[in-house]
Parts: sequence; structure tokens; C-alpha cells
Amino acid sequence: MTDGGRRIYLDHAATTPPDPAVVEVMLPYLREMWHNPSSIYVEAQRARATIDEARATIAGLIGAQPDEVLFTSGGSESDSLALRGVLAASRRRGKHLIISSVEHHAILDTAEQMERDGVAEVTIVGVDREGRVDPAAVEAAVRDDTVLVSIMHANNEVGAINDIAEIARRVRAKNAHAMVHTDAVQSAAHLGVHVDRLGVDLMTFTAHKMYGPRGAGALYVRSGTPLQGQVIGGGQERGIRAGTEDTAAIAGFAQAMSLATERREADLGHERALQERLLSELPRAIPMLAITGPLDPAQRLPGNVSCTVGFVEGESILLALDLAGIAASSGSACTTGSVEPSHVLVATGMPDDLARGSLRFTLGRGNTDADVDRLLEVLPPIVQRLRALSPIPIDEPPASWVPWLAS
Ligand SMILES: Cc1ncc(COP(=O)(O)O)c(C=O)c1O
Repeated sequence: MTDGGRRIYLDHAATTPPDPAVVEVMLPYLREMWHNPSSIYVEAQRARATIDEARATIAGLIGAQPDEVLFTSGGSESDSLALRGVLAASRRRGKHLIISSVEHHAILDTAEQMERDGVAEVTIVGVDREGRVDPAAVEAAVRDDTVLVSIMHANNEVGAINDIAEIARRVRAKNAHAMVHTDAVQSAAHLGVHVDRLGVDLMTFTAHKMYGPRGAGALYVRSGTPLQGQVIGGGQERGIRAGTEDTAAIAGFAQAMSLATERREADLGHERALQERLLSELPRAIPMLAITGPLDPAQRLPGNVSCTVGFVEGESILLALDLAGIAASSGSACTTGSVEPSHVLVATGMPDDLARGSLRFTLGRGNTDADVDRLLEVLPPIVQRLRALSPIPIDEPPASWVPWLAS
């Protein structure tokens, strides 16, 4: 436990604590205005008006028209709707889909399932050693029958920011009919996103990564984009996404996004300062630790500090950090009892055995210099202790690690 038992939360890319102002906005819709927005009476009409206002607020913040914003349950649903919905509505044009190797599993697994089902032919574009997608590689993958290109704006594990505007420009130059989708789940709050400046047709959002509630998200759909609904029935969200709307969550989402916009500069400065300390001090404090993701701050999400530690499993470090009062995460996925290295790090070309030591610290509004001090105090002895327990002799790093540890 930390001094005085205080827990330190360094996992803001997983989810963010709801801002008190967001909770305030939501409560009346849980307590009094809980009515079904599709009903006819006055209470229901009030709920409907709240949803319309939230839609207009969010549209205004991203440079869209209100009827271009579809509410969903979050990032995974929006990603799935973008891929399935566009391909289903464009069958006559083809079924070629382009994604990158570092997308969130909501995109990767959906694309894989669509290919298995015969409704998509998928090209996966690789990334550089910092996890960034080369716009020229995307352009090279575009074909006459390409229906959709889906490349994330910023990566959730290593924080790499992609040049979506350039990707969209190149895609369109090669095939004017291809649609461009970006998953802006991690970037929306930090960078601010404008649909015309990014030049996209579809964009994914989720509220819970911007100090909003879980269970609310949106898919921006540029007017005229072919999109077939995947959950249908009640006719909500222009008949594309059925289901009784969660007025409280939608109102909280709009409030969270407004606050993120108001506070962007302050949040950015704060997170960058803490991030820079960790990026420079961690490799000095721990031998054989490599920072993963872009080293240039302009190409990296503020607040993201990802790294990998040689000769230790990231999961073991996380358990020890948890006992020390620090909540963080790794890029690895626990599948069927074995720890698989992060697909993102593997895609950057990092050897599997080094990628197994991956850690991700993501900073947020509530973090302080004292939190960074505490992490720098507890992490080096944890790594030292775990290395001492290792059955493998730890002397020289394998040759395949050297280029990674040098950076
Ligand atoms: C890049 C990215 N896309 C999609 C998602 C899924 O969002 P949600 O949890 O709202 O379904 C996440 C969540 O971690 C993410 O980081």
C-alpha cells in the first residue's frame, strides 16, 4: 500500500474515472427523467430533447451535423458497426477491407470473422518499429474494389498517433469511392478531432475514455455514407441502431466531451509533463528497459508511457505494483491460461521474449508528481526482485534485443 493507503491509478487508457460534473448531469435522468424517449408524453419528450441536445453538442465539437452522429454503446460497437455496416451496404462495389496490424481487437477480430464468413477480403497493413502506420503503405494496399479503410487515430497500447488526414487523402486519390474510418477512442479527448480536417467518413468514439460513463459511444457517419444497421427493430438512431436510448449515459457523454474540449490545453500540459519525466527517468532507473512507441512527443498520445522490461513477465510486475498500491496494465492478453505477448509489440517487430515484459502507464487529470515519484521509487526494486527469482541466467541481453534496448 502507498503512503496513507492511497491507491495510484495509472491506467487511464483502460477507463477514466467519471468527472463529478458528468455524474451531476446524469443523476436527474436516473432519478426522475427515466422515461422512454420514444414515448409520447411530456416526460418522454424531455428525454428526447436531452438526446437531441447531446447529439448537437457532440456534432458541434467534431465539426459534424447532428444527424451524422449515431449513438451506440461504446467503442467496440461503433467499430463493429462501421466495418459490418459499410461492407454490408456496399456489396455491389466489392468486399475489400484494409486495416492495420495494431488495431484494437474490436476491429481486428471483427475483420477476421468477416473474412471467415466470406463477407470481407482483408488486407492488413503493417507498422514501423514505433507502431505507426505509413500512409504510403495504406495507399499501396488500395484497390479498385476497396470498400473501406479503417486505421486507428492513436494506438491504445503504445500511444502512436497516425496521420489520418494524409492516409485519407491518399486513399481518396487512388479510389474516390473507398470509405475511410478511424477509431478515435484514445485520441478524441487528448487531441481533439475534426471530421473534415481528418477527412474521414466514419469515426468511433467512447465516453468512458474521456471521464464519461461506460456504455455510451458514438459513430460519426458522414452524410451519404452507405451503412446498413446491424441491430435493428425499434427504429431508433435513424433505424440503424435499435435499442431504447440510455438518456443518462448520453447526457453524461456530451458533458464529458464538452469538458474534455474546455480542459484540453490544461490536461495536455499536465499529462505531458508527467509523461516526459517517466519517459526519461524509467530507462535510467531500470537496466534493460526499453520505451516502446514513438519517442517524438508530437507523435505520441500525451499521458502514454509504455515500455518493456527484459527478463521479467509484465504480468508479474503488475501484480507486485498492485500490492504496492499502483494500478497499471500491460499490453499482453491472457488467453487460455498462457500470457501472449502484445499483438502491437509483435507487429512492431519486437522479439516475443522481450515483448513479454510490456507495461503501460497511462496518466490522467488526477495524477501528480508525487505519483510519478512513487512509481520511480517502487518499480526498480520490484524488477530487481523478480529478476533475482528468474530461472534464466540474466547477464547479457540476447543479440535480438540490442536494437530495442539501445533506443
Ligand atoms: C482503440 C480502442 N478502440 C476500441 C476500444 C473499445 O471501446 P469500448 O470499451 O468503449 O467498447 C478501446 C478500449 O480499450 C480502444 O482502446
